[in-house]
Amino acid sequence: MRTKFIAGNWKMNLTKTSSIELARAIARAIPNNVDVGVAPPFVYIDAVASVIAGSKLLLGAQDVHCEQGGAFTGEICVPMLKDLGVKFCLSGHSERRHILNESSDLVSKKTHTIYSGGLIVIHCVGETLEQRDSNQTLNVIRSQLSELQPKIITDPNRLVIAYEPVWAIGTGEVATPDDAQEAAAAIRSRVSEFHGTETAASVRILYGGSVKPGNVAPIMAQPDVDGALVGGASLDAGQFAQICRYRELAA
Ligand code: PGA
Repeated sequence: MRTKFIAGNWKMNLTKTSSIELARAIARAIPNNVDVGVAPPFVYIDAVASVIAGSKLLLGAQDVHCEQGGAFTGEICVPMLKDLGVKFCLSGHSERRHILNESSDLVSKKTHTIYSGGLIVIHCVGETLEQRDSNQTLNVIRSQLSELQPKIITDPNRLVIAYEPVWAIGTGEVATPDDAQEAAAAIRSRVSEFHGTETAASVRILYGGSVKPGNVAPIMAQPDVDGALVGGASLDAGQFAQICRYRELAA
């Protein structure tokens, strides 16, 4: 049975004070039956860690360097994240692929560094509008999933894949529940080709892209969708708490 996972990606927003307030409010509001996490900007991770200590809220990071340490001015490595209590880290977010020009090779290295460093990795995949319009969605997903080398994935609980169509991120456009399901099912089937059906059945697949309280319930009702990666709405404690309580919205 896959535990649902709702992760908030705060991106390059908030201040130290507002990060602390938001984390405190979310930690108080999360339901028991769902894994919930937040990924603050690096510089606020430690402050957030101290206010959520003892709560169920999982601490995350938005990015990390692909090496475990060394002479890389300005970078942050996995052991530093672990030192602060970070439990999960994103890799391959579309803003890093498309705005910061991270190559597939770099994303692959980061994913494996995060995973082999002992953290949960959220490996993000998704097509641009142009790729969608030319019916390339499933090909793009397949190619971005080939960044996950089979040999290292021994614990499917630490591999999470987020399907985030680029055209839906921060735009207010959301994939239909059927589209989210189709992509999630394709991801699971591709993971099973690489890693076997048992691993594929255990890996959690999230949907991301303009998730809000008003659209989350039918997406979460899809059989292969195990959670959501939330940007804008995760900056509002009330909205994010509602998303985490999507079962009540569905009722
Ligand atoms: P959004 O961002 O919810 O603001 O569309 C999602 C994401 O970037 O993960």
